[in-house]
Amino acid sequence: MNMNTQAMAMDHHWLPFTNNRAFRQNPQVFAKAKGVRYWTPEGDELLDGSSGLFCSAAGHGRPEIAEAVSRQLMELDYTPHFQRAAPVSFELAERLAALLPEGIDRVFFGASGSEAVDSAMKIALAYHRARGQGQRTRFVSRAWAYHGVNLGGTALAGMVGNRRDFSGATCDVVHMRHTWSEDQRFTRGQPDDGAHLADDLEEICKTYGPETIAAVFVEPIAGSIGTIVPPKGYLARLREIADRHGILLVFDEVITGFGRTGSAFAAQEFGVTPDIITMAKALTNGAVPMSAVGVKTEIQDAVFAAAEGADRPELMHGYTYSAHPVACAAALAALNIYRDDGLFERSRALSPVFLDAVFGLRNLPQVSDLRGYGMVAGVQLAPGDQPGAKGMAVQRRLFDAGLHVKATGDALILAPAFVASESEIGQMADILRGVLGQAF
Ligand SMILES: Cc1ncc(COP(=O)(O)O)c(C=O)c1O
Repeated sequence: MNMNTQAMAMDHHWLPFTNNRAFRQNPQVFAKAKGVRYWTPEGDELLDGSSGLFCSAAGHGRPEIAEAVSRQLMELDYTPHFQRAAPVSFELAERLAALLPEGIDRVFFGASGSEAVDSAMKIALAYHRARGQGQRTRFVSRAWAYHGVNLGGTALAGMVGNRRDFSGATCDVVHMRHTWSEDQRFTRGQPDDGAHLADDLEEICKTYGPETIAAVFVEPIAGSIGTIVPPKGYLARLREIADRHGILLVFDEVITGFGRTGSAFAAQEFGVTPDIITMAKALTNGAVPMSAVGVKTEIQDAVFAAAEGADRPELMHGYTYSAHPVACAAALAALNIYRDDGLFERSRALSPVFLDAVFGLRNLPQVSDLRGYGMVAGVQLAPGDQPGAKGMAVQRRLFDAGLHVKATGDALILAPAFVASESEIGQMADILRGVLGQAF
């Protein structure tokens, strides 16, 4: 196995979203993964409570994906997708079109969720310009939103820490309010009240003029902030207001895509079809970086129509790694696993067990709120001296106690793989109970 943690030279790798100074004092390193488990270089075993970073829905170390990747590497390891293509990307796009809500059947590929978000923003702008509405350059997003870290996504962001250092370099975004309120504390599933918060979009239209707005971006379930489930009727109301004003509705499904809610996409789960869906993470089960933007046919039609008669690309946008053949092969293998193992159905069946386990943490002194839907849940910690300090401390303690969990600020985000057994879910809850029962 790999070298021992203490022997690793850590000065050169600048870790993302990490307190690098503290990490070097107390490195928490994974050297191996299988199923719902990680192992440190020293051989200590941890349960994976967050599918890595909401990626490995089918569990780690799937041989089907490894074999598909290896085969693809030997057959066609790379192809550019500017004026060239590989068969595997067409096959993947067709499979995704079949999985996406009806009408969303054009697929643009990137390598990360952040790229998918920025691509979706550019597609929205290009669509309006193609239809003679180039003045629609403004976006609407939501407080507490996370849409990745590229400049477009940073402008959409509603989390202050992700914006503060980068203001000035971003585009025109107006934010709606988030949908959480005090009276929702400890609500399991969708809150009954709060649909009226969608009217913020109507208010923004009144202030800025609907004809200036290109698209409204929301995570159907706000994931990274700590799992905020949409109030009943909220997404449908957003859809209705966006339609009335010719504004595109974008669901950022980077976390909720691929069965996390029990349906393929949250759009289907909540019965609201957006115009564009962004996805990443579980698309390849996390094994190879890849993202995609699912787009309604008529959006592509409009962009193509504008280029009619000219020998030029319809969309002047793309990445060196758009539709990387190895990523496509990994994604096809992941989709086969989801289908053949019935993992979206498994996610739906496991959800009550998972949510029972999470909501069983209710009376612990460190817990101030619990939220959850499907196979994703947020455990809000009573804040410590500084915002986020408790979350940092707890996720380090959980690592030492044998559980990997993603923390954002003072929220822990649980999202186990759908292949977890009921007893593994129970063990995760036991470790949480042990650590969150401590005073600190
Ligand atoms: C909703 C959402 N959008 C975008 C992203 C960014 O994805 P990536 O980190 O792959 O760029 C994330 C990542 O967690 C996300 O949760």
